[in-house]
Amino acid sequence: MNRIRIAPSLLAADFTRLAEAMAAVGEGGADLIHVDVMDGRFVPSMTFGPPMVEALRKATDLPLDIHLMIERPEDTLDRYLVGVQFVSVHVESTAHLHRCLERIRRAGAHAGGALNPGTPPSALSAVLPELDHVLVMSVNPGAGGQPFLESSYDKIRAVRELSGSRRLPVEVDGGVTLQNAARCVAAGAEILVAGTSVFGEPRPSEAVQKIREAAGRGAS
Ligand code: DX5
Ligand code: ZN
Repeated sequence: MNRIRIAPSLLAADFTRLAEAMAAVGEGGADLIHVDVMDGRFVPSMTFGPPMVEALRKATDLPLDIHLMIERPEDTLDRYLVGVQFVSVHVESTAHLHRCLERIRRAGAHAGGALNPGTPPSALSAVLPELDHVLVMSVNPGAGGQPFLESSYDKIRAVRELSGSRRLPVEVDGGVTLQNAARCVAAGAEILVAGTSVFGEPRPSEAVQKIREAAGRGAS
């Protein structure tokens, strides 16, 4: 098991003060900043586009973890590859998953395949060599603050099995809290995305530390 990484999601932060939000979680020891890109089509909401991702990249030294919830990511993907470290593409969003993953890697970022709750891990089996990590959605994509889907523990385990000896890091995204972080890690998750449970707390930097402590209790 690699080191557990905590990725606070800016979706739950104050959008008028994102630089401060990133600084606060950086103080708390966050490993990545999770950025939810939504286009109003793959999911109903709209959030950040390429200019915002570029601005965020300049405003922090932490690695950016871009979660693309957009239709046809192949059309705009290159505009997000601006020195970011992790990029995940939904398997449900494109007929060209392989090509997208190749392009992410060619830009020097870690390429991830993201799975909606209704999508089986086997949807990634043909692109395993092109993957650097897998993002398991533990809520339906599109909004923060939803309850964690209990079926996600088995899904995390199944993804770990599918990746076999490659032991691809699994990122769990949605509804992660102090209460379920250890179970996520015990199931095999290594990257924990946390929106509401970090930025919904009065002191986000402390919240990051507490989630890390809780997650550590699940590590074997
Ligand atoms: C949902 C997003 C998540 C979300 C998580 O579509 O992908 O990253 O921000 O927020 P919480 O932790 O509040 O479920
Ligand atoms: Zn996300």
